[in-house]
Amino acid sequence: MNIKDEMNIIEEKISKCERCTLHLTRNKTVPGTGNIKTDIVFVGEGPGEEEDKSGLPFVGRAGEMLDKLLNENAKLQRENIFIANIVKCRPPKNRTPNEEEVLMCTPYLEAQLMLLNPKIIVALGGTALKYFTGESKITKSRGSFFKWYGNTRIFATFHPSYLLRSDGESGPGSPIWLAQLDMSAIGFMYKALEKNIPVEEIVKKVELTLQKAGGA
Ligand code: URA
Repeated sequence: MNIKDEMNIIEEKISKCERCTLHLTRNKTVPGTGNIKTDIVFVGEGPGEEEDKSGLPFVGRAGEMLDKLLNENAKLQRENIFIANIVKCRPPKNRTPNEEEVLMCTPYLEAQLMLLNPKIIVALGGTALKYFTGESKITKSRGSFFKWYGNTRIFATFHPSYLLRSDGESGPGSPIWLAQLDMSAIGFMYKALEKNIPVEEIVKKVELTLQKAGGA
């Protein structure tokens, strides 16, 4: 069976899922979408109101911010990458998903990641960072790589919603400035992976570049 068919089976299972109470309040499940051949997968926290209505990830205000960073800084389009979330149903009032919900839902994300087998997973914000690395401070961990299973690396950056909430300051060292730096690095990673440059080499180069730019 090809990846697309297997992905459809996972999505079908997600659409019927009743493993936690989030299914009681959801409109649509949001399994994730994008390029199934990509080397880079972005993982956010969970659907918000617009995502719950449409069944698509990052289509509200946070999605607009994500698109802006992707297009302007990474020089990428959504079609280049795959985007998913830690939980597939909207937590009421957009609260952070609790431990039980994360535990019940993440086998779906794990199955998707097993199929996609990305070289780099971009953890968008604290919830994804915590899940993949156990670290809880995104301000400390952003711009850093973490080892995951196999040769896959986690790269942490701020959640777009956090950037929308931050005070509009855009000078060096501000959250948006750091996020732009991270996205440029992600654009570099994408292009380097296209050229089959080994992940270890890419990681070293990005770490050095971010250090020089004052973003690590
Ligand atoms: N925030 C997320 O973490 N994911 C979405 O899909 C939308 C907003």
